[in-house]
Amino acid sequence: MLLHTIKEVREQVKEWKKQGLTVGLVPTMGALHNGHKSLIEKSVDKCDKTVVSVFVNPIQFCPGEDLDKYPRTLEEDNKLCDEIGADIVFAPTPAEMYGEGHILSNDFLTYVIPPYFYTDKLCGKSRVGHFDGVCTVVNKLFNIVQPDFAFFGKKDMQQLIILKKMVHDLNIPLEIIPCPIVREQSGLALSSRNKYLSDKGKVDALALSKLLFNIKACYNKGVNDIKALSETAYSFLNENHELEYLEFRDKDTLEEKKFADDNTVVFIAARVENVRLIDNIELN
Ligand code: PAF
Repeated sequence: MLLHTIKEVREQVKEWKKQGLTVGLVPTMGALHNGHKSLIEKSVDKCDKTVVSVFVNPIQFCPGEDLDKYPRTLEEDNKLCDEIGADIVFAPTPAEMYGEGHILSNDFLTYVIPPYFYTDKLCGKSRVGHFDGVCTVVNKLFNIVQPDFAFFGKKDMQQLIILKKMVHDLNIPLEIIPCPIVREQSGLALSSRNKYLSDKGKVDALALSKLLFNIKACYNKGVNDIKALSETAYSFLNENHELEYLEFRDKDTLEEKKFADDNTVVFIAARVENVRLIDNIELN
């Protein structure tokens, strides 16, 4: 069922809750791929009812980012959700979410601002305000749908850690279910932004997953020195990769690691053909 208004979603969910049914939410920005598919499947498996939101959230894009050209494929997305067994696809307009004539600055809109310690690093460093936009929209979606479970992919690991922190700090009564990264057979992590890459760009992009797998292999052989592990990684990169960061951080607190251990996540962001790609790997 494709719904566009908050009122319709609320009414439907209210009915389900009256019947004592559990509700899962899969928040997305659409352009659904197999990564999203696995999140929706998990929700359909675990919950009586599943809501997938499809909303390209303007307030999480920074000036100069790809808000206008971000792929919008609602018809296909809706069909896929139907096939997987989702019960509602919630696709609001920006006006529905933020009001007619909405002014999206935090002078006029109430924002949910996650702690600076979590947002001043990794993607937050170059995407200032991005996680404020994510937390604000996800909090709104939580209030609209009131799910028992919400499903997020580990591909956006910093986002996942920040959202877990938000749910904990604000006592939001739901459980976040982290879901594994889905990769192409080549190793490339699935992302809606992979659509921007040429065939050659897709080959160049493989360096990211390859270097992460290599770091994990070295760690498993007993190397825990971060300088040594980083050096193995740099050898996978060339002039076709514009590295933004390669960092070793704690999987709960995002603190920088002095030595790699089982709580470490290795995060990478790099541009290939000017497309910004992110990936990560857990070392445990
Ligand atoms: O990960 C995403 O697609 C988005 O950041 C999310 C969580 C749907 C919020 O807009």
